[in-house]
Amino acid sequence: MKRSILRSSQIPRWLAVSRYNCSYDHTDRQGRGWTVLAIDRPKRVAVVARKGGVGKTTTTVQLAIALSIIYGINTLVVDNDPQGNATARLGVGEGQAPYTLNDVYSWTTAVGQTAGLSAAIHPTTWPGVFVVAGEEAVKFRETEGEELADYRLQIAYERSDFTSHSIGAILMDTQPGTGGLLRNAMIGADAVLVVSDSEPDGLLGAHKALEAAESIKARQNPGLQILGVLVNHYDSTMGEHERCVADLIAAHGERIWLPVVPRRAAVATARGIARPVQEIRTNGGRAYVRAMNEHARRLGRALELQES
Ligand SMILES: Nc1ncnc2c1ncn2[C@@H]1O[C@H](COP(=O)(O)OP(=O)(O)O)[C@@H](O)[C@H]1O
Ligand SMILES: [Mg+2]
Repeated sequence: MKRSILRSSQIPRWLAVSRYNCSYDHTDRQGRGWTVLAIDRPKRVAVVARKGGVGKTTTTVQLAIALSIIYGINTLVVDNDPQGNATARLGVGEGQAPYTLNDVYSWTTAVGQTAGLSAAIHPTTWPGVFVVAGEEAVKFRETEGEELADYRLQIAYERSDFTSHSIGAILMDTQPGTGGLLRNAMIGADAVLVVSDSEPDGLLGAHKALEAAESIKARQNPGLQILGVLVNHYDSTMGEHERCVADLIAAHGERIWLPVVPRRAAVATARGIARPVQEIRTNGGRAYVRAMNEHARRLGRALELQES
């Protein structure tokens, strides 16, 4: 039987739907044989923090658009926070997406019954950025004590087709704290990025979030890459911020992503009109985007994206 090796771009979509990153033999109805090697799939990053208000959502959506611009790919934001802030920031109103992450969770409660999350991928008003919308009902999908329930997102991803939207990377926004939704995000992720602000309790939250990621890596997701800590809301006029960042670097070394991301009014302005900070053409807006572009490149290298 003739066998050939297919590159990912040559693989029929129906095959890529169910299997990826593996090597296996396939024979079609006409008896033609293929050896399929490593199908590319978009890598998934969970953006996490213990504390609310540190900038998880802002960081998630801004990294999504920066990756899209720098690497010429489409990105997908999965809004795994019942507050649905990422969905709103991307200009998608309540009830606008026919399916939300709440539906995805319900499709995946029983292993073997899921359709994946492809049907819930929805366009946004940001170029190159798609969303799986969040909504309040997602909070009812928190499940404690039932271990399989922590794998719902992972299963949904594995059964999804990202080729039709040409998704090159997936970023998951999460709610602060702990719980089943956060475990789903970290178990379903290839990599985790912690966000911290520049104040003492943010710093403590960063330590705790790193510990939680280490624990998921040790128990449920050994391949999880712990990318490090992005420090947001930095105000260079505040001595306390400088001390906090020095403490973070002393405790975690290269895991701290530099440069720190400055606090700038342009970020709030952009949020108010549900547009990317790139469109706020002030010095503050540019300073924020410059720092975030450096982080998007660092993330792109970690995800092995090719710059266009
Ligand atoms: N670098 C920044 N400069 C100024 N404001 C910011 C910055 N990052 C986030 N914000 C603002 O801080 C608030 C909280 O950010 P958000 O991303 O919603 O945090 P989280 O998702 O962690 O709760 C929002 O009003 C947002 O516009
Ligand atoms: Mg948020």
